[in-house]
Amino acid sequence: MQLIDTVDSMRATSSEAGQKKMQIGFVPTMGYLHQGHLSLVKKSVEMNDKTCVSIFVNPTQFGPDEDFDVYPRDFKRDWELLKECGVDWLFYPGGEAMYPPGFGTYVEVEGITETLCGSSRPGHFRGVTTVVSKLFNIVRPRRAYFGQKDGQQLLVIKKMVEDLNMGVEIVPCPTFREEDGLAMSSRNKFLSSRERQAAIILYDALQLLSRKIEKGNRDGRGLKLLIESKIKEEPLARLDYFAIVDRRTLKESVEIKGPIMAALAVYIGKTRLIDNIWLEV
Ligand code: PAJ
Repeated sequence: MQLIDTVDSMRATSSEAGQKKMQIGFVPTMGYLHQGHLSLVKKSVEMNDKTCVSIFVNPTQFGPDEDFDVYPRDFKRDWELLKECGVDWLFYPGGEAMYPPGFGTYVEVEGITETLCGSSRPGHFRGVTTVVSKLFNIVRPRRAYFGQKDGQQLLVIKKMVEDLNMGVEIVPCPTFREEDGLAMSSRNKFLSSRERQAAIILYDALQLLSRKIEKGNRDGRGLKLLIESKIKEEPLARLDYFAIVDRRTLKESVEIKGPIMAALAVYIGKTRLIDNIWLEV
């Protein structure tokens, strides 16, 4: 595995592969890798001639009071994990390489970024779409892999690629979970053991919802109240948002119908966790 830490050498490496008609698969990450990330990486290694993984904790997607400074980092461990998966290139740029002095261009998807995490974290998706556009321009992949764990992010990236004719195939990958159902996340590291137990409430609530919908309940408002009170049962949990939305518009569903996503963000102590499920009703 080759370590590439400048934009120029990454571009040179990917364009050389492009000239040889090699297909490049790309997995953008912020590092502190877990099995969820690696499931995307393995898929890319299987499907493409070359796989590039980026590790970059992107400052523009964090708000001023968020956890950018303390976001977990462990480069050595990440390096070993990626090498074992058969990754070809690890792109690991510094902050100055991605945002040199004078940087001033942003990519913004309208509409579907205004709800859910978009309303709790103003500017977050603008940071995500900007950095992912830059990474796509540098790596020029044929395919890029995104986890359903960040459901809104996946839909926002798909829309950006479509609207801007980026010509990158976005491959959605299922949420990888711990044995008890907690979605794997780099932020789970912040949880104390009591909080780790409490964190199961996110998955439990989504499972409860899925059972109710399976049994024929279609009342969006009633289901929302049910899930909100379920979260309240856990004293360490504080709900940021819960919503059942149409996946095409990300607007809340009053009557549950069509392709939906039920998504929530919950503070467990100081740590904000997200999860979601997708259902076809
Ligand atoms: P990060 O949180 O590191 O996640 C990188 C990719 O791994 C994302 O596509 C995310 O959805 C996926 N992922 C994380 N946990 C997962 C899980 N439990 N199961 C399946 N996939 C999972 O998302 C970001 O980084 C950043 O916003 C980024 C896209 C890199 C832009 O900075």
